[in-house]
Amino acid sequence: MPGGPELQKHRWLMVGAGGMARNWVQRFLAPHMQRVDVVGLVDVNPAALTQSGDFLGLPPERRFTNMEAAFSTVEADCVGICVPPPFHRPAVELAAARGWDVLSEKPMADTWEDSVAIYRAARQARGGAGIRLQIMQNYRFTPRIQTLKRVLDSGRLGRINYVVGRFGADYRQPLSWGAAFRHEMRHAMLVEGSIHHFDQIRHLSGQDCTTIAGWEWNPGAPSFKGEIIALYTMRLDGGAFAHYEGSGLAAGWQNTWHGEYYRVECEGGAVVLDRDHMVRIQEHERGRGLRVEEVPAVTTAELPLEGHAAVIGQFLDWLDGGPPPPTVVDDNIKSTAMLYGAIQASATGQTVDVAGMVALAQRTAAG
Ligand SMILES: NC(=O)c1ccc[n+]([C@@H]2O[C@H](COP(=O)([O-])OP(=O)(O)OC[C@H]3O[C@@H](n4cnc5c(N)ncnc54)[C@H](O)[C@@H]3O)[C@@H](O)[C@H]2O)c1
Repeated sequence: MPGGPELQKHRWLMVGAGGMARNWVQRFLAPHMQRVDVVGLVDVNPAALTQSGDFLGLPPERRFTNMEAAFSTVEADCVGICVPPPFHRPAVELAAARGWDVLSEKPMADTWEDSVAIYRAARQARGGAGIRLQIMQNYRFTPRIQTLKRVLDSGRLGRINYVVGRFGADYRQPLSWGAAFRHEMRHAMLVEGSIHHFDQIRHLSGQDCTTIAGWEWNPGAPSFKGEIIALYTMRLDGGAFAHYEGSGLAAGWQNTWHGEYYRVECEGGAVVLDRDHMVRIQEHERGRGLRVEEVPAVTTAELPLEGHAAVIGQFLDWLDGGPPPPTVVDDNIKSTAMLYGAIQASATGQTVDVAGMVALAQRTAAG
């Protein structure tokens, strides 16, 4: 890579082999295999371990059914974590104890306490020098979102007044949202879904959330034990606001994964993205009506890798001396605070000081 970081071969421990981790192993790591040597694979499910282990051609002694055994047996320098959220903290702590860098799936963890503990473990590792920790926020790096972002960054529409985001998926059937744990857990919409959209609101606006208010609930849907609808309003630190609707019980218009709706209302017009993936600029002129312009999408030449594969590439570049990627833990703690601020807002009926949560997390991690 002329002028870029010098590429190294990294010894990668993969925590998770089935579910989404199967995609990591079989699809997302694939473009990077010249830079990665998978030296170990962990999954509590032996069938998943066999399938992904066979795909990688890993010998039996490099396949593990528990994390501790894997961490104490293999010699790695980095770790990919793709297991359900309650297991992110133990995996990051095991990596931090060995000074290994980490790329972990979202959300950082399934509680705010564990998210802050992860942040602290990463910062305090290697005698205070810290490990590199990046969180998988793949939705920032897709053509439809990059096209929308390019319009906003061009400045053509001026100041952002507010952002509207919508996710709506029909998960009214039992087990329709992938893994069973999503149908069993508390705060399912927020913890497993809305973290992507909160992060996207920060990404699109270029602003961080200062306060959040709103509600999460389950209106009685039998397919979920936890809260599965979320309606929130946020104040952002650059003067804009945001409104978010997330539902796993959408019985009408669908805005499911990679088909989310975003509308950014700006000083000189609005820019809209819906499930048809077309970014449209709307400019109203009094007396002349509405002009709508369809924006050419970012091309594959401009975005050769997208989503997970793009984030894995950023992580490897960072390990090889490149700049910190956009979704490192110092950034992601701000999206994570929105998530746990949202849960607190609903539980208390109060507006929550998200910026204050971030400041406390930063002090805890540093201290
Ligand atoms: N970024 C995205 O677009 C995206 C999409 C789906 C899931 N995810 C995230 O990926 C993670 C995994 O979600 P999933 O849907 O694949 O879940 P899943 O329930 O399918 O679990 C993934 C794998 O982890 C294994 N596993 C569970 N507990 C384990 C443990 N303690 N140790 C080792 N292995 C364990 C399971 O056996 C399974 O094979 C979650 O954090 C989820 O939020 C991200």
